[in-house]
Amino acid sequence: MSNMMTQVLGWVDDRFPLSKMWKEHLSEYYAPKNFNFWYFFGSLAILVLAIQIVTGIFLTMNYKPDGALAFASVEYIMRDVDYGWLIRYMHSTGASAFFVVVYLHMFRGLMYGSYKKPRELIWIFGCLIYLALMAEAFFGYLLPWGQMSYWGAQVIVNLFSAVPFIGEDLSLWIRGDFVVSDATLNRFFAFHVIAVPLVLVGLVVAHILALHEVGSNNPDGVEIKKKKDPVTHIPLDGIPFHPYYTVKDIVGVVVFLMFFAAVVFFAPEMNGFFLEHPNFEPADPMKTPEHIAPVWYFTPFYAMLRAVPSIAGSAFPGVVVMGAAVVILFFLPWLDRSPVKSIRYRGLCFKVLLALFAADFILLGFLGMKPSTDLFTLIAQLGTIYYFVFFIALVFIPKFEKTKPVPERVTQ
Ligand code: HEM
Repeated sequence: MSNMMTQVLGWVDDRFPLSKMWKEHLSEYYAPKNFNFWYFFGSLAILVLAIQIVTGIFLTMNYKPDGALAFASVEYIMRDVDYGWLIRYMHSTGASAFFVVVYLHMFRGLMYGSYKKPRELIWIFGCLIYLALMAEAFFGYLLPWGQMSYWGAQVIVNLFSAVPFIGEDLSLWIRGDFVVSDATLNRFFAFHVIAVPLVLVGLVVAHILALHEVGSNNPDGVEIKKKKDPVTHIPLDGIPFHPYYTVKDIVGVVVFLMFFAAVVFFAPEMNGFFLEHPNFEPADPMKTPEHIAPVWYFTPFYAMLRAVPSIAGSAFPGVVVMGAAVVILFFLPWLDRSPVKSIRYRGLCFKVLLALFAADFILLGFLGMKPSTDLFTLIAQLGTIYYFVFFIALVFIPKFEKTKPVPERVTQ
């Protein structure tokens, strides 16, 4: 470093812990040396968050949160604003990419038991992030003010009216009107562009601080802090995050951006999966679309909602089951009693149940997109039961599970 740079850095360091933070979180943060493919998705989630914030700022410059102007302002962005189409497609593709990345990130946690002691708080912050992400996507989806935006919001806000006693008042309070209207659009805009992103960024910071406090898990589920060099006190199986993992993560970023660009430039609607066809028609409170379905990342929960029979015309039981499907995630660290973290050393039973759980979630996602028939409803009911059986089974498997011995040190 040039003399001048060293002096500037020294001046800053005397007033702000810049070098200290760099060391603590990057150059002297020792991560296990056996990270694999599944460890790309944390840094990719940060990348997508950044893409969403930057493209969101530029969209806001031309978008009008007004029931009479919103749809046309999005068309204006697509046709007249310089590179507006690119910014919008990056943002709409980014929303789906966020969920792809986060679902894979969560699945990694399930495989390697990354939610277990001492990482319970990392997991809980993660679950809160997931909730905030769902809220962010839901609020954002109303903004283009297309048919699906409008009726999707109508369906979801109406669910709140199923809550006993206070339901009607509650949904009225959320909408700010008797139906989804300009008032609803205004408040959803406020939540989407400022309130929820602030919470999301705060939670991501907390998530990473908690991670750096206890250290990363790894594909072997071995605690690297247990075996340290007696002189340097550096974990024997740890390597500095920077440069080793910054460089590895760049490879992930490049590959991710190739896929991302391919979708943005060649298939931004993804055949109705990322941008639903009815949303190219302006919102019309007098005309309900033939088939209302949320975007793919919500459909597993939507399938559960529809699978539960209503009682005396009330959808409340379905709402409770759908809510419980998200809430149960928070309890995972205490439901899974196995002392072994990684799937590598767990018994066959866990492996089969986890594979079935992933397949079940995808199946529910598929069913949630389709109009319900008797057969689909039956399958969705079985799928919903299995979703919960998986979590309950985690409590009992360790009682008879034959695990393999966990090695002392990480394997390569
Ligand atoms: C905006 C969303 C998110 C961001 C930016 C994010 C970021 C990160 C980063 C950078 C890491 C360290 C690198 C890695 O292990 O891949 C990490 C680890 C972790 N995350 Fe997330 N995360 C997000 C959402 C979630 C969610 C929704 C969950 C679970 C519900 C979760 C659970 C975890 C766990 C358990 C770890 C520790 C993994 C280990 O050490 O094996 N994260 N996260």
